[in-house]
Amino acid sequence: MPEWLNALPKAELHLHLEGSLEPELLFALAERNQITLPWADVETLRAAYAFNNLQEFLDLYYAGANVLRTEQDFYDLTWAYLQRCKAQNVIHVEPFFDPQTHTDRGIPFEVVLRGIQQALHDGETQLGISHGLILSFLRHLPEEEAFKTLEQAMPFRDAFIGVGLDSSEKGFPPRLFERVFAKARSEGLHAVAHAGEEGPPEYIWEALDLLKIKRIDHGVRAIEDERLMQRIIDEQIPLTVCPLSNIKLCVFEHMGQHNILEMLERGVKVTVNSDDPAYFGGYVGENFAALHEHLGMTEAQAKRLAQNSLDARLA
Ligand code: ADE
Ligand code: ZN
Repeated sequence: MPEWLNALPKAELHLHLEGSLEPELLFALAERNQITLPWADVETLRAAYAFNNLQEFLDLYYAGANVLRTEQDFYDLTWAYLQRCKAQNVIHVEPFFDPQTHTDRGIPFEVVLRGIQQALHDGETQLGISHGLILSFLRHLPEEEAFKTLEQAMPFRDAFIGVGLDSSEKGFPPRLFERVFAKARSEGLHAVAHAGEEGPPEYIWEALDLLKIKRIDHGVRAIEDERLMQRIIDEQIPLTVCPLSNIKLCVFEHMGQHNILEMLERGVKVTVNSDDPAYFGGYVGENFAALHEHLGMTEAQAKRLAQNSLDARLA
């Protein structure tokens, strides 16, 4: 990666902590927790990182998360991510975690949260990285389950800046979560949601109008709807775009086809993020580098993208 890219101060606003679980740590945690894995070794697991769509990735992502059992595991996961951030001059993070992925396996909510929180705290004091944590609801599960998760989170209200919506997009429109998002907002939490990754522009409209989101996670399919484009430009609604993710999950065939710079030039407040870096081939820095290499991103454009990420912070 060019040094000038690495040196740019940036924020990461779209990162699933469970998606930062590198195969080496996954195997180490499996051993520590005496879990037998379905993969023979790190190489075999890495070789399985070939996806045709979001669902194929999610199946592996949830399987991988099964090794996370103790507070220390969640600490180690988060700490490893923060060290990567430090190395790439990511000075602020607003990561997601998926409580339901863990509570549904019998891991107490507070075990997950305490490990993550402690690492974020140490990241602030030891690495100088500020943060705001976002609790994300799994949209393939019923809204009732999201309500239960929000209830579990409320004793720890101050640990969060907001709620998000992730997992399988197609067939699970934002409107299904209107009430739980209203409840979260009434608690003073910000709202963000994945929309327009695989799903149509209508899902972005719903996320804006029904969930009243402050940022759109992905949102690259907004370009199919000119009226929507005008709205997100006029209102300067940030998009947390994840270029390497979009290629790995076949949202675009090649990086050369990615629309992030076209959006930037049209005045959309786009940002660069890594989504699930352990699975998609790189962290924020590698995402910037891919735009430079395949789309000819200039230094001026990189600076605007990095500044957008700092401007779009919620914390
Ligand atoms: N969970 C983790 N990564 C995701 C993505 N890219 N889209 C939806 N849900 C996710
Ligand atoms: Zn995501």
